[in-house]
Amino acid sequence: MSVGSPLPHDAAALHVTGAARYTDDIPLPANALHLAFGLSDVARGTLTKLDLTAVRAAPGVQAVLTADDLPHANDVSPSAHDEPLLATGTVHYLGQPIFLVVADSHLQARHAARLGVIEIAEETPILSIDEALAADSRYEDGPRIWTKGDVETALSAAPHRLQGRLEMGGQEHFYLEGQAAAALPQEGGDMVVHSSTQHPTEIQHKVAEAIGTHMHAVRVETRRMGGGFGGKESQGNALAVSCAVAAQLTGRPCKMRYDRDDDMMITGKRHDFRIDYDVGYDAQGRVLAVDFVQATRCGWAMDLSLPVADRAMLHADNAYDLTHCRITSHRLKTNTQSATAYRGFGGPQGVFGIERVMDEVAHATGLDPVQVRQANYYPAITAATHGTTPYGMPVTDFILHEMTEALLITADYAARRKAIADWNATNPILKKGIGFSPVKFGISFTLTHLNQAGALVHVYQDGSVHLNHGGTEMGQGLFQKVAQVAASRFGIGMDAIKITATDTAKVPNTSATAASSGSDLNGMAVAAACDTIRDRIAACLAALHQIDAQDVQFADGNVTCGDTTLTFAEAAKCAYENRVSLSATGFYKTPDLSWDRIKGQGRPFFYFAQGAALTEVVIDTLTGENRILRADILHDAGASLNAALDIGQVEGGYVQGAGWLTTEELVWDEKGHLRTHAPSTYKIPACSDRPDIFNVALWDAPNPAQTIYRSKAVGEPPFMLGISAHLALSDAVAACGATYPDLQAPATAEEVLRATHRARA
Ligand code: MTE
Ligand code: MOS
Repeated sequence: MSVGSPLPHDAAALHVTGAARYTDDIPLPANALHLAFGLSDVARGTLTKLDLTAVRAAPGVQAVLTADDLPHANDVSPSAHDEPLLATGTVHYLGQPIFLVVADSHLQARHAARLGVIEIAEETPILSIDEALAADSRYEDGPRIWTKGDVETALSAAPHRLQGRLEMGGQEHFYLEGQAAAALPQEGGDMVVHSSTQHPTEIQHKVAEAIGTHMHAVRVETRRMGGGFGGKESQGNALAVSCAVAAQLTGRPCKMRYDRDDDMMITGKRHDFRIDYDVGYDAQGRVLAVDFVQATRCGWAMDLSLPVADRAMLHADNAYDLTHCRITSHRLKTNTQSATAYRGFGGPQGVFGIERVMDEVAHATGLDPVQVRQANYYPAITAATHGTTPYGMPVTDFILHEMTEALLITADYAARRKAIADWNATNPILKKGIGFSPVKFGISFTLTHLNQAGALVHVYQDGSVHLNHGGTEMGQGLFQKVAQVAASRFGIGMDAIKITATDTAKVPNTSATAASSGSDLNGMAVAAACDTIRDRIAACLAALHQIDAQDVQFADGNVTCGDTTLTFAEAAKCAYENRVSLSATGFYKTPDLSWDRIKGQGRPFFYFAQGAALTEVVIDTLTGENRILRADILHDAGASLNAALDIGQVEGGYVQGAGWLTTEELVWDEKGHLRTHAPSTYKIPACSDRPDIFNVALWDAPNPAQTIYRSKAVGEPPFMLGISAHLALSDAVAACGATYPDLQAPATAEEVLRATHRARA
């Protein structure tokens, strides 16, 4: 059986040999044109003059477009129609596209884009959380507030109480392949678009609006992305729409790809958050009441900020059964890039809030931080009564008690904590620390209707299978997992399955590949399509062999019908000759979801994916420099579809999460200019930054929810395990003095050094 085999990524050999074709590698006709944006160098103001004479006169320039030149919709927003492709009258952030250059070459377009004379009457930009709160600059009328129990009373009745504030920065996606798109005009005004996108249907939709046609006239194809991480859910719209508009105008193929600096200046990033907390607790470390105020900078356009902020609220409990809890969420409108989806989609920010609370309660009570967490966990899956989340969903599948116990043993926690304490007692300069963080992540799109998927499967008469579904491949291994599902349904080998590009003409009306639900949704849809074809073949063979259709068996590349055994290819040929359709669609929608996001009540998730991590670090208290020495992770992937790919997701997610909270720092100056817009100033983890000892294991237990082969989604949840790296740094800093070090994020060397001084104060 193919499902469950730890096969490598289907394109692994293509990736490492450079043969994998990305959008920018697709050969285009010789007359193809190349696009670049002219950008605003002011964060907020009114356009007073736009002189593009020099741009038009520049070598190779074929056309220059402003908002007024756009033939139809000037909108690339995925939500509120508040995101013009090109600025109209006012500018909202430094880096906003104002005009579009169409030229013979990529470099000519980029050179010409610098020649625009743009005059803007500057206004004071709203940049910080405090500025936005003071100006009441926000999305929605006021803050969103969800409550459970009676927070005020429980806080005042609690034997102990503490307050704190945690700032956490945003994060650049830093997909290795930057944003890219190409549009090829077809006969009769039709358009074919290649886009590096997690959401081909949305590209199709926005392109159709922009060129004034129906969705049926636009076909979008995505073979793969060189990483998306949420940054290609909506941020690819501008490039694809630009290419389509320019292709329609010129009748020539058009391509656009952002240079890395442009990519970082233009596109949205993870939402930075400030979380204030007020906590009541007892001497055993039990949290009796907690009041969270989350404030986040959403940037200049709404994009996906409301569901991101919702998910931060939905994960404010993480793994803990909170009796009295209030979560207030401010979604602030600022003159910065429009913050967008990023692995975890707000979840990591919410989780970090409560993990910080657990840490500070442990520090205040002098209890072991792991013990404090265990004391607050939701009741176990086996318990007689279950806990309920702050949003009213019973937690019936909680397995972190068992997972935590198992991890503490394999990671040798007790002995290592003791060894670290001994080390710190004798080493004045280098201090070590250890941090533990669990994750419980809700699986499903919170916008319920997105939880659907389609598939289209063809079996050819030689027994080979052509596989399509609505999911996109961004490195996570979705295509391979879904191919394994198809191989298992037909009982055939993987070499019989052709994995093909995602194509809006084959599977329509798809959701973004996001919310980690790619394999859950598309795996099910593909299984349904395969089963339809398999059942047709079985019925045909049963009739020919005069047996029951149930007695036709598909396994090991063969089809057995009573005494006769055919190869799958022979069976397919036989069905074809008996005029049986060997092509089928499949459809799936997640059951049992209901959610009222205004009230903050319901069952937004099908189930919870869980995991736990222990990280050990060392810091240099003279410089703040630090390293992760060891990480031990136990992650719940249900009955894994492919343990090799899942472990890759856990490793990558952890490292990306640790990067977010340690070295990755976004800095805007007082004019709203993002100063960290290249790898020279923005530091993602390198290979050498991964833990020297990195023990990753899967908790291989079937999902109680009826998912595809009882597997669990794995794309985003392990990201949150990186929080343990920050907690470990905080623990190391705490070894410097008695005061809670109040380490903020990202914990760059500078911040670690500052916290060391705070701890010593
Ligand atoms: N892994 C790789 N290699 N590249 C990516 O871009 N994106 C992450 C995660 N893992 C990503 C990745 C994000 S944000 C999501 S939502 C999921 O993969 C999406 O894929 P899935 O639903 O198939 O897990
Ligand atoms: Mo992932 S942030 O849901 O694309």
